[in-house]
Order: sequence, then structure tokens, then C-alpha cells
Amino acid sequence: MPRTVFAALGTYVPDRVVTNEDLTKVMDTSDAWIQERTGIRERRWVREGTENSDLALEASRRALAKAGWEPKDVEAIVYASLSSDHMFPGDGCALNAKLGIPGVPALDVRNQCSGFLYGLAVADAWIRTGMYRRVLLVGSEIHSTGLDVSTRGRDVAVIFGDGAGAALLEATEEPGRGVLSCHLHADGRFVKDLSTDAPGSKYHPRVQPRMLEDGSIYPHMEGQKVFKHAIVRMPEVIREALAKNGLEAKDLKLLVPHQANLRISQMVQRALGLRDDQVFNNIQKYGNTTAASIPLALEEAIEARGVQRGDLVGLAAFGAGFTWASALVRW
Ligand code: COA
Repeated sequence: MPRTVFAALGTYVPDRVVTNEDLTKVMDTSDAWIQERTGIRERRWVREGTENSDLALEASRRALAKAGWEPKDVEAIVYASLSSDHMFPGDGCALNAKLGIPGVPALDVRNQCSGFLYGLAVADAWIRTGMYRRVLLVGSEIHSTGLDVSTRGRDVAVIFGDGAGAALLEATEEPGRGVLSCHLHADGRFVKDLSTDAPGSKYHPRVQPRMLEDGSIYPHMEGQKVFKHAIVRMPEVIREALAKNGLEAKDLKLLVPHQANLRISQMVQRALGLRDDQVFNNIQKYGNTTAASIPLALEEAIEARGVQRGDLVGLAAFGAGFTWASALVRW
């Protein structure tokens, strides 16, 4: 049975840098509060008119160039995002058109911060069963246009950023390489603890003037609850992956946790007894980019930490739903 390898990664962030200091001009917050509670120094926000799939397209082009693939080499697209351009269709189809590959299937995944790993699990299953040999997996988000950038929304608005990451996944028969396993979980009892209520199909019309006033068009987050669950579920799901493969935390060359909050990553690291050089974070520069955060950090980490063929790489995520997931890869 073939295994799935990462043929190349590509990332793209908008050029508009929004610092913590910039946010203090529109809401009651401070650079010190944001850095202390989240580790974030700045994030990227798009300029008006940018589409989610524009970010994905640029990240995909960069990955294609690195791998030496043409768009026509892509046999299927898996597109993870919670911030698609429209309520429907999802942006996988938009990316298909922008890449100029009509007919290539496009699956949209909306599992929020776990979206990239849910997408990886699907792509890996397709590749293992021989359905496709080359899959483009993208995580792409535009949060900035959906945030309440006032003091009312400050707990959420300071955290999220825009960006995209693309992975070209390819079948290999080479022994000792590839995705070892993926582990997915969800617990819908917490649906409302991190969610955006409107527009929603239970409302008629789906978005109403009062929603602009009462804030239900903006994300709602029970921050402390999310935090408490994340620091339990992420170590747990990484241990699950290690146990499944007869491995231990010390075997990890690199762990790339979803970039939710630097404090969450640090607590995950401590829970697993990992050294600083085993864990990579770049939330300081990009904030939480949800489905894009793992590929955005992974691409940088592979280079920065000198990951070589055969090294063990762990990925883990936690987010809205609640959903959480992990994957282990022999690079
Ligand atoms: N700037 C300044 N003060 C802020 C603020 C901001 N941006 N956001 C909230 N505050 C205030 C609160 O109003 C509160 O004030 P009060 O004590 O007067 O009521 C105080 O700071 C503490 O708020 P609290 O919510 O207890 O802070 P916290 O330590 O839990 O940190 C989060 C808030 C959001 C940073 C933290 O809960 C968190 O990171 N949670 C996880 C979020 C996450 O990862 N989400 C994505 C999941 S994928």
C-alpha cells in the first residue's frame, strides 16, 4: 500500500502587517496584554477585495514551483477553511478555477483549527487506497473581515490573522517514509463555545439588521474553556499517535502544534516533556490563522530545524467544534 509524503509546502500571507500597537488605536488593549496572554506581536490582514482563494492560489503556486509540478499534475484538491468567500459553494472550486484545472475534484473541509489535519487524513486515505496519487491540500483563512475590531470584540480580534498554506501530497512506495497515522476527534457538546452564529440557515433571512448591532455576526469564544480543553486534548492526541506507532515523545525531531496561543503550545510542550528545539512556533508573527496555521509553521520549521528525510514530525491541532487531531509523519 502506498504511503503519503509531503512533496512540497508553500505559504502566503498578505503584506499588510497589523501590530499590537495598531490595535490599541481601535480598541482598549495593549501590546503588553496581548504578548503576555497570547505571545502574538503582529498578524497579517488582507486589504479589502482579497478572496480567500487568492491566498490559497498564491500558496499553491509556491508549493507547485518548489515541487516542479504543473497545476495539471494535481489530481484532487482538499481545501480547509472556516472563512470561505461565500456560504456556498466552498472555495475548493474557486481554487480549481484559478489554477485552471476544471474537472479536478475539490473537497471543502470546515473543521476550523483542525481543518488541515482532517484534510490530511482524507487525502492520506485517498492516497493509501490508490484513488489519487497527487493531492493538493490547502488551509486558507481570512479572519480580519469577520472580526469585531472594537473593545467589545477584543478577546477574539487580537488573536486571529489571515494567511494560507498549501501542501502537495504524493504517493510513495519508498519504505520508511510518509504519513504514519492520523487521529481525529470531535465533541459537539462545545459547539457554542467557539462559534459565529450568523449568517445561519435557522434565521430567515439568514442575516438581519439586529445582528450587525448585537454582534452575532462576529465570533464568540469562551476563551478560558477553549484554553483548558486545548491543553488537555492536544497532548492526549499526540500521545495517542505515538502509542499507535510504538514511538515516544523523545523520538520526535519536530512537533508543530496548531498556533492557537503561545501559552497553549508551551503547556503542550511541557506536558509531553519536549525540549525547546523539538517544538516550533511562529504565532508571534501571524497570530492564529486557523486552518492555515500548521502549514504556515511547518514550512518554516522544516527549514529552521533542519528536518531531514526520515525524521519524525508530529502535527497536532485543537479548535472549534470542539475538534482535535494529530498526525505523525516520517519526513
Ligand atoms: N486586551 C486587554 N484586555 C483584554 C483583552 C484584550 N485584547 N481581551 C480580554 N481582556 C480582558 C477581559 O475583559 C478581562 O477583564 P476583566 O478581568 O476586567 O473582566 C481580562 O482581560 C481577563 O480576561 P480573560 O478572558 O480571563 O483572559 P485570559 O487570560 O483567559 O486570556 C485569551 C484570554 C482569549 C487570550 C485566552 O483565554 C485564550 O487564549 N484562550 C484560548 C483561545 C484560543 O486558543 N482560541 C482559538 C482556539 S483554536
